[in-house]
Parts: sequence; C-alpha cells; structure tokens
Amino acid sequence: MQIDNRMETIRFDAGEMSFILCCANGEPPFILYWGPRLAPDLSVEQVSLLSTRQSAHGIEDVNIQPSLAMEPGIGYTGPSGFSAHREGQDWGSRFVVQNVKRDPQSCRISCHDHRTGIALDYDIVVDSDNGLLTFSSSITNQQDRPLDLVDMATICLPIPAHITDIIGFSGRWAREFQMERVSRFSGSYMRENRRGRTSHDCFPGLILCEENSDEQSGEAYGLHLAWSGNSRLRVDSNGDGRVFASMGALLFPGEIRLAPGESYHSPQLVGAYTCSGLSSLSQHYHDHVRNNLLRQSTRFRVRPVHYNSWEAVYFDHDQDRLKALASRAADVGVERFVLDDGWFGGRRNDAAGLGDWHVSDAVYPDGLKPLIDHVTGLGMEMGIWFEPEMINADSDLYRAHPDWILGLDGVEQVPFRNQYALDISRPEVSDHLFGRISAILTDHDIGYVKWDMNRDLNHPGGQQGIAKAYAHVQALWALIDRLRSAHPDVEFESCASGGGRADFGMLARTDRVWTSDSNDALDRQIIQRGASHFLPLKVMGAHVGPRHCHITGRTLSMAMRAGTALMGHMGLELNLLDEPPEELEELKAAIALYKNHRNLLHDGDFGRMDSPDYLNIMGVVAKDKGEALYSVAYLTGQVPALPGRFRFSGLDPEANYRIRQIWPEDWYSEKSPSVIDALDLAGAGMSFSGAVLSQVGMQLPVAPPETVLLFYLSAD
Ligand code: GLA
Repeated sequence: MQIDNRMETIRFDAGEMSFILCCANGEPPFILYWGPRLAPDLSVEQVSLLSTRQSAHGIEDVNIQPSLAMEPGIGYTGPSGFSAHREGQDWGSRFVVQNVKRDPQSCRISCHDHRTGIALDYDIVVDSDNGLLTFSSSITNQQDRPLDLVDMATICLPIPAHITDIIGFSGRWAREFQMERVSRFSGSYMRENRRGRTSHDCFPGLILCEENSDEQSGEAYGLHLAWSGNSRLRVDSNGDGRVFASMGALLFPGEIRLAPGESYHSPQLVGAYTCSGLSSLSQHYHDHVRNNLLRQSTRFRVRPVHYNSWEAVYFDHDQDRLKALASRAADVGVERFVLDDGWFGGRRNDAAGLGDWHVSDAVYPDGLKPLIDHVTGLGMEMGIWFEPEMINADSDLYRAHPDWILGLDGVEQVPFRNQYALDISRPEVSDHLFGRISAILTDHDIGYVKWDMNRDLNHPGGQQGIAKAYAHVQALWALIDRLRSAHPDVEFESCASGGGRADFGMLARTDRVWTSDSNDALDRQIIQRGASHFLPLKVMGAHVGPRHCHITGRTLSMAMRAGTALMGHMGLELNLLDEPPEELEELKAAIALYKNHRNLLHDGDFGRMDSPDYLNIMGVVAKDKGEALYSVAYLTGQVPALPGRFRFSGLDPEANYRIRQIWPEDWYSEKSPSVIDALDLAGAGMSFSGAVLSQVGMQLPVAPPETVLLFYLSAD
C-alpha cells in the first residue's frame, strides 16, 4: 500500500490491478482509479490530473465527484447507492471523511454526516496474494430517533467506459449458472433477487469486460456479493458518460430500522480485475475461495468421493437396501456415504415430517447406528441431510409451534414444496435447531452435513410484521457457525434445491456446494462451466447420475456422466444395485482416475477455453506447471465434418509435456486414424513443448455428441 499524504490518497496494488482511493478529511471519499496495475513510482497527482473532467452544457457547473455511496447529499443526479430517512427527514446525507486508519493490507475510512446524524464506515481489504479487493460498509444511527434504511449498496465502483460488456448469470432450478452476455446500454442493468436465498436465477456475481475480452485475453472486472439472500446488482451507464457498478443486500421497507446507536452491516463485495481474460479472473476468485474462505482442514484434505442416496432411494429408506448400496459404493471406491432426505420423523414423502429432527423409529427401529456402523466398517465416512430452516405443516414441531413460521398476517402462505420457512432469527427457534442437530451429530459418528433449503421466502414477515429476509441470512450464518464450532470435524455442504445458495457468504462456513439438482451430464457441462467463473472445482459438487436422467429424461453413457463428474468434487447419485457389471467397472475406473488427479483438479489453475458452442473445453494446470488435465466435451454434433485444432492454454512454453488421452478407456474408432492413434495418446503418448501445444494446438478427433475426452499432460 502507498499513502500520499499530500493528496490524501491510499493506493493498493494486488495481482494485476491498482486501486487508488481519495480520502481527504472533510470531503466525501471517492475512487480515483481502479484498473491495470500502475508503475510503482507513478504519482497520484498525475492520475488525478489526467482524470480532470470539465463541465458541460446542461449539467452542473462543477464536476460532482461521485462518492463511495453516491448518497443523495452529494447532489449527483444519477442512481444512488444509499437511501435512508427518519419519517421523511434526514434523507439527504453527504458523508465526509472523519478518520482514516490503514495498515499495509487494509484501510478503514470513517465518514459521517453531522446534519443527518449518520456515520458510515468503509473497510477495504486488499488480498495481494490472490489479486482481490474486499469491500464492506456499515452505517450507525447517531441520533436519538430511529433511522429507516431503504437501500444501501456495499460500495459504488466506477467502471471505465471502454468496459462495454456485462456478463450475468441467470438460470432456474436444475439449470443454474447460465451465462448471459449483453452490451452495456444507457440506463441501468439491474438484477433483483427477492427469493430469500441466493437464488438459481440471479447469482450475485457480475463480470464487466471489453467487447473483445475472451477466456484468454482482454480486461475484465469481477464483482461478487458474498450474501446468501436478497440482493440487488446494478451497472448504471449514466447520461454524463460515467459508469458505476454496485451490489448490496435488497431490503424490504422497514426491514432495517436502526435504533439510536444501532448499526447495519452491508454484505462483502469481492472485486477482482484482470487484463488477461476471463479465466484469469476466475483464478483470482478460486484462489480466494481456497485460501481465504475454506478452513484449513478442508483446504488440505483431499476431497472424498461421495455417494448420495437421493436419486437411488428418494424417501424409500430400507436399511438392508441402503447397506447393500453402501457396500456397492465402497466397492467402486466411494469414501463418503451421504444419507439424504427421509431418515427422520414422519418424513416418508415431502408433505410431512420436516422439522422433526429425530431418527424415525418406523424406518430405523434400532436407530441409525447399524447403518452408520456398516458404512464406517466399510471404511467410508457417514454424511446426513438436514433442511433446518423449514417445516411441514404435518409435523410435531409445527403442531407445537405454529407461530414459529415466517408469513404475512392475513395472507395465505404461498404453497411451495409443502413447506413453510421458520423464523430462525428468533433465538428460541435457532436454539431449538441447534439443539436437535447438535444432538444428532453428538450421538452418531457423522462427519458430514448436507444443509438444504428448498423454498423461497415469498413472505418473509416475522412475528411483529417486520420483514426478516435480511435477519434470516444472518441467523442462518450464525447457526452454521455455532454448529461448526461445536462440531469442528464435521464438514457442511450448502444446497438449496441444487445451486440456489452457492455464494461466498456460504462458502465461508461450508465446505462444498451442491451445484445443481440436475445430474444430466450434458446440462452439467454448461452449469459447471458457468459456476466455474466464481467457484473452484474443489467445492463444486458433481455427481454421476442415473443413465436416464430423472430430471431431463435424457440418456447418457457412463463415460460421459463420469467424465463430467470428474471435473468437480466427484460423487455418485445413482442406484448402484441396478447398474450392469460393465458399467460398474467403468465407474470404478473413473473414480480411480479422479483419485489420481484430484489434487491437480482441485488445487491447480483452472481455465475455460474459447470454443464453438458444440464443444466445452476446460482445463487445470498445476501451479508449478508440471502437469495439466484438459476436458474436451462434445456436446452436440459439430457442424463442420471435423472439429478444429485445440490450442492448449496455461502451459509453460519452455517445458516438454507428454500428452495422453486418459478418458474414456475404450476409445471409439472412426474410419481413419485420428490424432489419438497417430500420437498413441491412449498408450505411451508423445511429448511436445508447451509452446507448440499452445501455438499449433492439436487437431481434435471426430467424436460422437455427448462424449468427454480427458487429456493428461505431464512435464518430462
Ligand atoms: C433438494 C436437494 C436434493 C435432495 C432433495 C431432498 O431438492 O437439492 O439434492 O436433497 O432436496 O428432498
């Protein structure tokens, strides 16, 4: 960090970026520069002079410097990042710097407005190892009357005008992380999520890039809101030519009313910048998740192969069958057996039992111990499913506490998977849940919890009629934190009908996300590619599903399903008892392959390659560039008779790599020899320099649609 006292600026350099903040006492703070890394000795004065903006006809006679909050009091007429009032008064705050604290890695800018009696603090932390900046902010009501907060972006970030494209992530249940790229336009690009969870259709991440930015080149800014609830993401292209990006929790009216002395904390916004393409931007985020969010034990533990019981048995829990499944799972190489929904209370279908976190006597007359002993006896770890925030009307808990649920007085509940949401912000509710979950974890040898959440919070009203969507997220995080400190050896997975709650807020307290309920490998190729913009493979749950996908009805080969699940945190979710022996053998081989390469897959530098729509090419190169693994998925049939040459990226140009094709084992043969035959890639392979592999590339073989080829490269 550099501090220029004369200019009253703070400069952070991290990875490929520099960031300069002006924080003169008595003035609103503002960002002077965020972009490519500047020369270390460049004077801030030069940057400031080069940024001089004149006045123009028809706008203010002076340049209004946009502040970090773009609050109404600065007089800027573009969209604002802050709105609060006291019964219609005190809406026009103008926050000026009162105090600045800084150390090499962070700064705190304390601002206030005497007139409106509000203090506003910014914390900015630079992560120079991983090339990121983390922003958070908070306000405090300093007057003796309550303050209503209407809206607060964590921070408003200026974006240069040549950054013309916006990439957002939309989707739906079983089809999350669908990338959507649009050109910026005058006005506001805005995504609002009011689902009460991170959502399937509005992932809180945006990438802003140049028109020509692609996976391997071009500038890009990344923004992610580490928040597991309602959010507002916006990019405002204003009439004066300036562009701002901002993100914040979306608040309902009255949701945040601050009593005198009380504070509101905005969720963290994690910003990244690159000048070398979208894959490089993702690498900054992946390093952040691995190095800063995951706890040590997860970071350094190899990710065990999962078996999840859901699609094999659904609610039909029969102990003998589950034991047989566990035995079969152990046979093929599984290391963790997760018992999904259906083990508790009266939960024989999705209309009853939710909330009753007692092992069902009807299904497990001797408790879970016999099954767990069987699982652990096979050398596997036991995992178990919970959906703590939810309740069925047909449950003992609801009969005892019908008033514990969120809703709106006088308005019928919106039906959603036969369940209601509990108001876990009430201490008695979260204490109860803590007690029940903790008891199950204490009484059993369980090492893993899949934490699910299967409905939106359509009416997140609490007992006093106040909206509780924001409080719900805080209470959720606190409950998981409490459980994790009581049971430090238990890993947690974040699931919300698949990838509906996969964000950095959750990843700061969980060890894996369930990326999507869809185990359709073809859809998964795109879902996992989308998710990889922010999430590393290490946390991305990916399962081999049944041959006929239960959700899409599509039929896919074992080679395709296993090859796709390998590019993530691999697991299985199919009825192994129905699988023909040859498919079990194939699965076993895929699991062995995953085990051989999982450290590379999970800890290396991940990249996506630009390719025509019929292909999906992704790869991981070890940090020391000693090895690499690339996945080439043929999604649909290619339009030309042969696909093009694939140029490997991320390799050391000086090193020599032996290249081999390691999946599938049985290679399909075409009418004339392919590159695989010519280079003996399925055998000993051949060596080429990293430079040749990236410059010339390799002609891809003809392959049928729905095929995944994996290539492994090791430096000689
Ligand atoms: C959700 C999850 C699934 C499964 C079911 C159980 O849909 O995403 O993986 O756990 O709930 O009800």
